[in-house]
Amino acid sequence: LETLNKRKKKDVSTYKSEVQLWEDEVTARAKVAQIHRPDRLQQDDYEFVFDPTQALNFVSAGEWVDPDKQRLQEQLDAAEKKAKSIQEVRTSLPIYQYKEQFLDALADHQVLIVCAETGSGKTTQLPQYLLDYFNKEGGTSLRIACTQPRRVAAMSVAQRVSEEMGCRLGQEVGYSIRFEDKTSPNTKIQFLTDGLLLRQFLNDPTLSGYNAIIIDEAHERTLATDILMGMIKDVGKYRTDLKIIISSATLDAQKFSQFYNDSPILMIPGRSYPITIYYSQNPEASYLSAAITTVLQIHCSMKDPGDILVFLTGQDEIEAGKQSIEETVRKLGSKIPELVVCPIYSALPQEEQGKIFLPAPPGGRKVILATNIAETSLTVDGVRFVIDSGYSKENVYNPSTGLEQLVVTPISRASSSQRAGRAGRTGPGSCFRLWTRWSHFNELEESTTPEIQRANLSSTLLLLKSIGINDLLNFDFMDPPSATAIAKALEELYSLGALDSTGSLTRVGRQMSELPIDPKLSKTIILADTHQCLEEILTIVAMLGESSALFFAPKDKRLHAEAAKRRFYTRGGGDHVAYLKIFNSWSEAEYDPLWAKENYLQQKALTRARDVREQLQKLCERIGITPSSCGDSNYIPIVKALVAGYFSNAARLNRDGKSHTVLRNGLSVRIHPSSMCHEPTEVPKWCIFSELRLTSQEFIANIVDIDPQWLIDAAPYAFKKADLEKFGIDKKMPKTRPAQAK
Ligand code: CDP
Ligand code: MG
Repeated sequence: LETLNKRKKKDVSTYKSEVQLWEDEVTARAKVAQIHRPDRLQQDDYEFVFDPTQALNFVSAGEWVDPDKQRLQEQLDAAEKKAKSIQEVRTSLPIYQYKEQFLDALADHQVLIVCAETGSGKTTQLPQYLLDYFNKEGGTSLRIACTQPRRVAAMSVAQRVSEEMGCRLGQEVGYSIRFEDKTSPNTKIQFLTDGLLLRQFLNDPTLSGYNAIIIDEAHERTLATDILMGMIKDVGKYRTDLKIIISSATLDAQKFSQFYNDSPILMIPGRSYPITIYYSQNPEASYLSAAITTVLQIHCSMKDPGDILVFLTGQDEIEAGKQSIEETVRKLGSKIPELVVCPIYSALPQEEQGKIFLPAPPGGRKVILATNIAETSLTVDGVRFVIDSGYSKENVYNPSTGLEQLVVTPISRASSSQRAGRAGRTGPGSCFRLWTRWSHFNELEESTTPEIQRANLSSTLLLLKSIGINDLLNFDFMDPPSATAIAKALEELYSLGALDSTGSLTRVGRQMSELPIDPKLSKTIILADTHQCLEEILTIVAMLGESSALFFAPKDKRLHAEAAKRRFYTRGGGDHVAYLKIFNSWSEAEYDPLWAKENYLQQKALTRARDVREQLQKLCERIGITPSSCGDSNYIPIVKALVAGYFSNAARLNRDGKSHTVLRNGLSVRIHPSSMCHEPTEVPKWCIFSELRLTSQEFIANIVDIDPQWLIDAAPYAFKKADLEKFGIDKKMPKTRPAQAK
């Protein structure tokens, strides 16, 4: 078996007979694997593992590695024990005491507001209670939807509930997130992102496939959740059989209740222990290093057991923090107890996500470095210490510049008390706030502004228009967005050709609305048809989504990694064509993980891009866009298609030769160091960018060279030659840099 284990997949057929000998063991192991990783087995039925070829794939995928039978038995025992403890946990949750009350209220009311602290069991239990309700009612039970603002939460919670119900993920319990559907016709409980449920209105305007909708995490007030609340209120008028549950972790229940015509509120008291709050004496120069120091201080000086939860803002920070903590711990060696560092953020591969729920090693401690996903969406038991940076990354849209960006923003006082609350679930806890007491009471906002009042609405408005909701000013919003924001969004849609001058959806607009991506990207895809480069654009769109997780550079191999990256770059093709070349080379290498590693690329990100690309391709087929290709060396059509979507993100190099000015609003920006165009020799005179990042200053990233004439071609009403001439487009203007292919 060991030898087999080492063989490459290609040799499989030769060893089929040998594998068959191991059938028994494979079966047993599959059982273990199924218990531990049900998601891995779901695509086929159980027999899947009896097919020797598959079985060997299973082996080489490392699903089980230990050939020792006794160990196997232990694993089976552990799985059984886990099942028992799951039932114990379920009945000990605060919400369990209110199950009957909930079921009774359900019989009398269409809408219920459930308000309970994080960790009470709302997300995991309410869908199961509803299932009980419908089963008892008799009748046809359809499906219960439970929305989540975050993809990671939808996946992780579905995994947990499938374990609780003893079924395989994707069967009775499943999840759907954009570009990934793990449900089947049997699925009774479906966790899905709020944005995805909103999309369901396109095909099923009365949500006839569901008999209950749970709007979970309603307090987060994401854009999609807010729109859903209005839509569902409307649907409820016609679908009197539809049960609607609004679930919230904060005490804003009154507002939800009022919105739903004074629906009853089920208030479930939490079981929280006292939490001591500490503030920084002086403002911190760097919250990341302050957080790291605090982690180590707690770990080394606090005798009390208990895990540490640190709130940071994003992947880069979390990975940097992890590295730094691990280095220090290694240096201290056996002088201190073991400290396990678990990161959690949305782009973290699924296999890694589960680690945060594993208990800390005996005598040691676990430190979880999280984004605000751990604020209310995910509960990790055993946390006694919370360290709060006081920041989170927010999607902020500035209607006056028309640009949207992820900005590290101070959190609100309401958020900070949620975060502190994570320390007091299993015993008295402590929360270390890395800001001063003064700033807490004088500088932090009381509560977070609903996303609808700060986000770019163009994508949502396009969707609403295609669902048939035209009168946006009279839509039943809980908190309406500003008229300026609506006007800006309509203007953007008009400039992209999605709406005509009367504000009605055009044919292009309808096609665009079928693609679950930003209107700029969907326009690019549709224009790729005109420019005959759909294959290439699909790859680029999929890769753009992964661009932040694509490259990795080990500390000691920075130069190698940088050189590897440059090999994919072609002058004039910018980051976009480089992404295309990366993907195509990987595909030529038969998607080999080894190839990815040698080129300092993340196999996971590439694989995800491939999945997304496949999904987009299917959607294109559905809306009647036929495949076309221009190859990856003649990239002019590709860039032209990109300009068709991103003309509003055009920028021109300033006289200083270093910074650019965004044409539309005069904003001064710099090229982000991660861009291939950052090198002084590669700085384009005219370019478009797919991303604006604000760190210490405004950066543009994912950049490609353009010829300014293409802007006039793509959006003649937005760009007049005379205007561009003001920016220096004249007879002497070079045709950007060699825009011709070799
Ligand atoms: O939604 P709410 O915050 O009210 O609670 P929940 O997410 O339903 O979590 C209820 C309990 O299940 C908590 O004690 C969690 O720690 C536990 N849980 C878990 O152990 N593993 C998961 N993947 C999810 C929840
Ligand atoms: Mg929850």
